[in-house]
Amino acid sequence: MAKKLHIKTYGCQMNVYDSERITEVLRPLGYEAVDDTDGADMVILNTCHIREKAAEKVYSELGRLRVQKEAMNEVGKHMVLAVTGCVAQAEGEEVLKRAPFVDMVFGPQTYHRLPQMVAEATRATGQVLDTDFPEESKFDALTESRTVEGATAFLSIQEGCDKFCTYCVVPYTRGAEFSRPAVQVLDEARELVAAGAQEITLLGQNVNSYHGEADDGSEWNLARLIRAAAEIDGLERIRFVTSYPAEVDDDLIKAHGEVEKLMPYLHLPVQAGSDRILKAMNRNHSVDEYRALVDKLRSARPDLALSSDFIVGFPGETDADFRDTLKLVEDMRFIQTYSFKYSARPGTPAALMDGQIDEAVKVERLAELQALLNAQTLAFNKQSVGKTMPVLLDRAGKKPGQLVGRSPYMQAVVVEAPEQLLNRIVDVTIISAGPNSLMGELNLDDRKACA
Ligand code: SAH
Ligand code: SF4
Ligand code: F3S
Repeated sequence: MAKKLHIKTYGCQMNVYDSERITEVLRPLGYEAVDDTDGADMVILNTCHIREKAAEKVYSELGRLRVQKEAMNEVGKHMVLAVTGCVAQAEGEEVLKRAPFVDMVFGPQTYHRLPQMVAEATRATGQVLDTDFPEESKFDALTESRTVEGATAFLSIQEGCDKFCTYCVVPYTRGAEFSRPAVQVLDEARELVAAGAQEITLLGQNVNSYHGEADDGSEWNLARLIRAAAEIDGLERIRFVTSYPAEVDDDLIKAHGEVEKLMPYLHLPVQAGSDRILKAMNRNHSVDEYRALVDKLRSARPDLALSSDFIVGFPGETDADFRDTLKLVEDMRFIQTYSFKYSARPGTPAALMDGQIDEAVKVERLAELQALLNAQTLAFNKQSVGKTMPVLLDRAGKKPGQLVGRSPYMQAVVVEAPEQLLNRIVDVTIISAGPNSLMGELNLDDRKACA
């Protein structure tokens, strides 16, 4: 009988990708993924360390799981409890100390060794800790073929970050920048398409630093890789995330204008709109450089929708600095943004800087920024009303008879549509818009096609 595996994923898309691959590594050992922790033979928390709240969530979840694990012990069953991801990498020892009932702690670079770790943990030889940055890449060791749920898939092409923004833990939790060889990436993309993917999002902590080795020994940049991926039959849409503004090159800008399969949506985190703060953050771009980059991108692809990340209340941020951020937001017309209160992270330079900002000020600034950002998202969504756009319907809606998909600009679009259209790209005319989603109607042709 299959053993039940539940993986709970926190944090970014790279963790989502890793969780999928972990499931694949464990499948040959007899584990099948289930939606619930109830009665699970193995529970893995794939964690995020980016802000204090994210890390603390893990410990409260572990407290809950301890109760379940003990209940299973009482009826003679065993739950293997594991922690992976960035909390495991950053404070693995601490996890084992604070939660001694955890069986395995492993970092995001070692999960290809899970078969050995599971053997050790189930032999009950004590706790397993594996947070190396191994010489060999996990990608070379992972042999399991890819599976895809639905029509969209993530594909990690680059990991790690050398940028050392002064607030950020990622360079410590994910290590140095590393690019997967282009052939390996393209092989995996073909596998994903064969397994049903029509849209692939290429992932990297700093995806613009991609410089993968090609077959002839040359190096490919991200634009080159995107152009090669666009040649894959059956792959309809390409996206990538996350971009580091200072490393967006002209080839990539050009690709946005030329590669039809590359979707007109770009997540380009700016973090702040004040040069003083950007400098203290070590972001390597000024506000004007960011504006100029956006101008270039929009010249190449006029309908490009921009999304971004923001941090408010970085140490030393004055009210004037914050106003500069609001000004930039007004000018840029971002959609689908993510904004956060600065969270001091152990071991990062900003945590030790003077001028830490009061929580109350952070709360106020975040609310003001989010009000503006939300208004912009709504305005953008409203502009879509009356337009017809291709939507990849990739999941069921909340109500019966509804399907939900993504517009080219990453908006969620809800339509009344027959189930046969699931995982199809159909033309939809937008009839109304809210802050989080659009309502659309199928075009007649698509309705007829499935009548
Ligand atoms: N590699 C990406 C994503 C990094 S983490 C990038 O360079 O943009 C995602 C977002 O979390 C960041 O863009 C930033 O806005 C936010 N973030 C990172 N560290 C943070 C911290 N210490 N406090 C608050 N937000 C943070
Ligand atoms: Fe963190 Fe900066 Fe690297 Fe992004 S670019 S992962 S914010 S250090
Ligand atoms: Fe979080 Fe690690 Fe991603 S810290 S945002 S899970 S790289």
